[in-house]
Amino acid sequence: MSISTHHPADISRLVRVALGPRSYDIHIGAGLIDSAGTLMKPLLTRPKTVIVCDEVVAGLPLARLRAALVASGIETAEIILPPGEQSKDFATLERLCDDLLAAGIERNDLIIAFGGGVIGDLAGFAAAVLRRGVGFVQVPTTLLAQVDSSVGGKTAINSKRGKNLIGAFHQPATVICDSALLDTLPDRQLRAGYAEVVKYGLISDRDFFDWLETNRAALFAGDPAARRHAIAVSCEAKAAIVAADEREAGVRALLNLGHTFGHAFEAATQYDGRVLHGEAVALGMAMAFRLSTALGLCATTVPERVATHLKAAGLPAHIRDLANDWPDAGNLVKIMGQDKKVVAGRLTLVLARGIGDAFLTRDVAEADLL
Ligand SMILES: NC(=O)c1ccc[n+]([C@@H]2O[C@H](COP(=O)([O-])OP(=O)(O)OC[C@H]3O[C@@H](n4cnc5c(N)ncnc54)[C@H](O)[C@@H]3O)[C@@H](O)[C@H]2O)c1
Ligand SMILES: [Zn+2]
Repeated sequence: MSISTHHPADISRLVRVALGPRSYDIHIGAGLIDSAGTLMKPLLTRPKTVIVCDEVVAGLPLARLRAALVASGIETAEIILPPGEQSKDFATLERLCDDLLAAGIERNDLIIAFGGGVIGDLAGFAAAVLRRGVGFVQVPTTLLAQVDSSVGGKTAINSKRGKNLIGAFHQPATVICDSALLDTLPDRQLRAGYAEVVKYGLISDRDFFDWLETNRAALFAGDPAARRHAIAVSCEAKAAIVAADEREAGVRALLNLGHTFGHAFEAATQYDGRVLHGEAVALGMAMAFRLSTALGLCATTVPERVATHLKAAGLPAHIRDLANDWPDAGNLVKIMGQDKKVVAGRLTLVLARGIGDAFLTRDVAEADLL
């Protein structure tokens, strides 16, 4: 079956994640959940699946997804979990695994992760360990999940000792990315996801950053073509990096641009929602560019251009943009050092020579960071 005959290029886009036997397609377009049954049918060994979602998403388009599966003759059950980061814990994982077994999920079945990054990470990890690994499909419903967490196969829950410390690499069988689902997403969540979109431009695609400067307003206004393009380019960028380095032995770490700085602000607020992940990443990217310029690596005008774009999108670019009683610089740097991207006690940072020209370094002195 050629997907493009079902969804002409002007309606949807297809991005391939090339990982040998674990390769899969990302389908991107407005209204695509109505085609979920058609897209999933060829991947199923029997017409049966379970949808995992949170209570918020259950109140939104769950009925449409169910109807699309039923229309293709696929029997479905649903497991509905409480929303929020707290659900990425052992207690919820235990309940989820038990409910999946009770629903009769077998080794060759696929489960559906229908939601934001929390549901994707949690249901993905449950799929990775249930019966030593069942398949799963990502149907992401937040911008962050559509451009980042649903692609690449990282799944995890949190430990008391840190975020995402218990997990597995487990690639989905396909990703169905319906950009129209973003219509109900709260503005703040949309902005936070947008930080990850900007990230791809800043890492390796100057033209895309230029395009975002011109098209950001259309994207936020819900223009379907602008959203589809931004999501597709983001997924292509992530797919290329993941294909080159599935398990983050090297180049995949570029995706952490802004994240090591950002981690300090997220951890300092105990991930309680005062600072969303994408907000911390936006601030972290602005700081990474400022440090790059301070070290003489990047032209002086660049950090301001980056900050201007982030602020226009309603994202923080200076510490003062995030009202909070922050620890001092020394303590923030200490928290950065507890990030899981630390190897042998040395911080790996992503810095940049310009927009679209990021690189990894372990050579930044603590004094410069301070
Ligand atoms: N696996 C990865 O590679 C990866 C990458 C980045 C982030 N993550 C993880 O992703 C998580 C964050 O994901 P997120 O930002 O999507 O958060 P989330 O899953 O908590 O979703 C944010 C909120 O939006 C609600 N929501 C979801 N879809 C909606 C819709 N269409 N309309 C209205 N409301 C909707 C959710 O119920 C939730 O309250 C974190 O746990 C992070 O660790 C994972
Ligand atoms: Zn991120």
